Amino acid sequence: MTAGPTREALDPARFISNPSTGKMGYALAAEAVSRGADVTLISGPTYLVAPPGVRLVRVTTADEMFRAALNQAPGVDLVLKAAAVADYRPEDRAPGKIKKEVLRRRAQRQGGADRAVLLRLLPTPDILEELGRRKRPGQVLVGFAAETGDLASNALKKLKKKNLDLIVANRIGEEGEGFEADTNRALVLDRSGGRTELPLMSKESMAAAILDLAGPLLSVGSGQAFRQAAGRPGA
Ligand code: CTP
Repeated sequence: MTAGPTREALDPARFISNPSTGKMGYALAAEAVSRGADVTLISGPTYLVAPPGVRLVRVTTADEMFRAALNQAPGVDLVLKAAAVADYRPEDRAPGKIKKEVLRRRAQRQGGADRAVLLRLLPTPDILEELGRRKRPGQVLVGFAAETGDLASNALKKLKKKNLDLIVANRIGEEGEGFEADTNRALVLDRSGGRTELPLMSKESMAAAILDLAGPLLSVGSGQAFRQAAGRPGA
């Protein structure tokens, strides 16, 4: 399980990140533990407390999350990649705070009549795409998609490109769903063309609904706990 944002530092005082709080990933981790799973939660910086019974691996950057995820993935049956990973990071991380005066001189050197400073960004690895490349037979890979445009077509593209079994797509920038909200609404697509609309619900209920959809994709032994939980009253 991965959760939360990543942070890409420019200097000790500044970073590039996103508003992810980690609530969805932490709710999934708690739900998976309650169904008897052995859960490793790779978490970017959040204020949340890890659910009891979860093995927590704390990371800050996309590169650190990449290494932690690749390290854990070979031994797991189910990967849920809820983290909101920064796609780019500053090319250089200054060891000390970059002073405003230094930025002003840099802007002048760069010919910035408009006082703009250019920031060079380098791409971070796409963790999920790499996990999709390395997916072993029987392993189930669940990705997430945060969209402002066409939910279904963007999610389908990510499902195929990243070799996923399931993708949970939600809108960002809408009331009550996505970043920072306590509730969520999602469209879930699977690789055989299945499509499930999950209406507005708490992130805890959504975690249960996502595991109900992922459980049947697991092979018999490892899927048992998830299938049983799916059948219990109120699950
Ligand atoms: N993801 C990842 N590594 C990245 C970027 C994204 O593992 N460097 C994963 C996320 O954890 C999520 C899925 O890929 O499960 C989709 O992330 P999203 O931000 O919606 O899409 P991107 O692939 O980054 O594409 P775009 O920004 O163009 O929407």
